[in-house]
Amino acid sequence: MATLIKNAQLVDSFMTLRGDLLVEDGKISAIGSQLHHPQAEIIDAGGHYLFPGGIDVHTHLNIDVGIARSCDDFFSGTRAAACGGTTSIIDHMGFGPTGCDLHHQLHVYQEYAQNNAVIDYGFHGVIQHVDDAILDEMASMVHEEGISSFKLYLTYGYKLNDSDALRAVSQLGKVGALTTVHPENDAAVQLCRQRLLDAGKRSCRYHGQSRPLECEAEAIARMINLARLAGDAPLYIVHLSNGLGLDYIRNAQRSGQVVIAETCPQYLFLDDSCYERPDASKFVLSPPLRPKEEQQKLWAGLQEHSIQVVATDQCSFRYQEQKQPAEADFTRCPNGLPGVENRMPLLFSQGVMSGRISAQRFVELTSYWPAQIFGLPHKGSLKVGQDADLVIFDPNLEQIITHSQMHDLCDYTPYEGINIRGWPVLTMSRGQVVARDGQFVGEKGAGRFIHRRPFKNPF
Ligand code: URP
Ligand code: ZN
Ligand code: ZN
Repeated sequence: MATLIKNAQLVDSFMTLRGDLLVEDGKISAIGSQLHHPQAEIIDAGGHYLFPGGIDVHTHLNIDVGIARSCDDFFSGTRAAACGGTTSIIDHMGFGPTGCDLHHQLHVYQEYAQNNAVIDYGFHGVIQHVDDAILDEMASMVHEEGISSFKLYLTYGYKLNDSDALRAVSQLGKVGALTTVHPENDAAVQLCRQRLLDAGKRSCRYHGQSRPLECEAEAIARMINLARLAGDAPLYIVHLSNGLGLDYIRNAQRSGQVVIAETCPQYLFLDDSCYERPDASKFVLSPPLRPKEEQQKLWAGLQEHSIQVVATDQCSFRYQEQKQPAEADFTRCPNGLPGVENRMPLLFSQGVMSGRISAQRFVELTSYWPAQIFGLPHKGSLKVGQDADLVIFDPNLEQIITHSQMHDLCDYTPYEGINIRGWPVLTMSRGQVVARDGQFVGEKGAGRFIHRRPFKNPF
């Protein structure tokens, strides 16, 4: 089966080219001008941008966080992703039963995703405790199962202490895995939180104050030093929200350490004034939204290449049933926001169309570096032989984000009312059109598991 996309502005991190792209058997088979194929179905791109499909390397679909389960599963979450121009996700496995081995959650997550995901998917492992058996098991997860990155948490229920974090990052580096970390100083967060509660400041309005940015920045600096102590093991900082943390990351990068940073749309486009709203619980997530001045620091990081990835940390809970009942008590509010459908349009509109980043930089942040960093050699570029995971963006289409147009199961979008210039009008996953003109046209269960390669420093 062949599809010929004609009259496109092709952009990836290597080239920009006005021309055509031929897809055969799910792969890109030719790129050039005036391409012909006698049997191909023709798609006229109308001169619009043709990018590699987005890769969102930070989602939490169907996650059980103890007090709630996220409302989007691998079907509705990937459907929303596809409609927003994303063609692959790497989901963070949630915690399993206390003491479980690394394979336990892999089996659980394979069940969650297969026959449900509409686009391709992989998983990050989760390190919820450290002992000799866990350390021994890491190599088989990487080399047999295709799980070449793991997350460890320095806060929440299964936080690792410093010696366990050091043991984990050291062994992960040795077996060819990338350590990703949720960095927040848990002890400092607990103290800040207790002080607020003692003062009767319990509503979601106070969530941001309960986790100051210094708690995050301290944990980033600590993990950078532990990774260095572990023989310069590679480190990936998830959901960076502030400039102080970025200063530590830059410093490490300048000294030659492999420290990679990810930020998310919520930290670029939303700020802590959301906590003054009566529906503040919609914005409860960790790290929390920061003062507006942090946004510019993150944009600088994107522009100067000290931040390499924009992912979402998609973790949706319904406002009415799951968040609003905890409006008066931030300690009972499930943490997380939806956003998998909004990442590409937000960054394209506010980044490319506003002149902050080039179209090529947009591809690097949303697709190319995610593929390189997380071991997806067949994705992230417009090259012959690559999977035909593609998205066409119409830069002239202007629309306001509103939840009624989203394809998830949540009941709000945190980006309601933001005007977007430039929308994805067609998304293709391995040669199949999965979204067109804001409608989902894909197939439940068509997504395949991505067996990822071991980590190799792409810089
Ligand atoms: O609040 C958040 N970010 N929830 C998702 C889990 C995590 O910390 O990444
Ligand atoms: Zn996290
Ligand atoms: Zn997360």
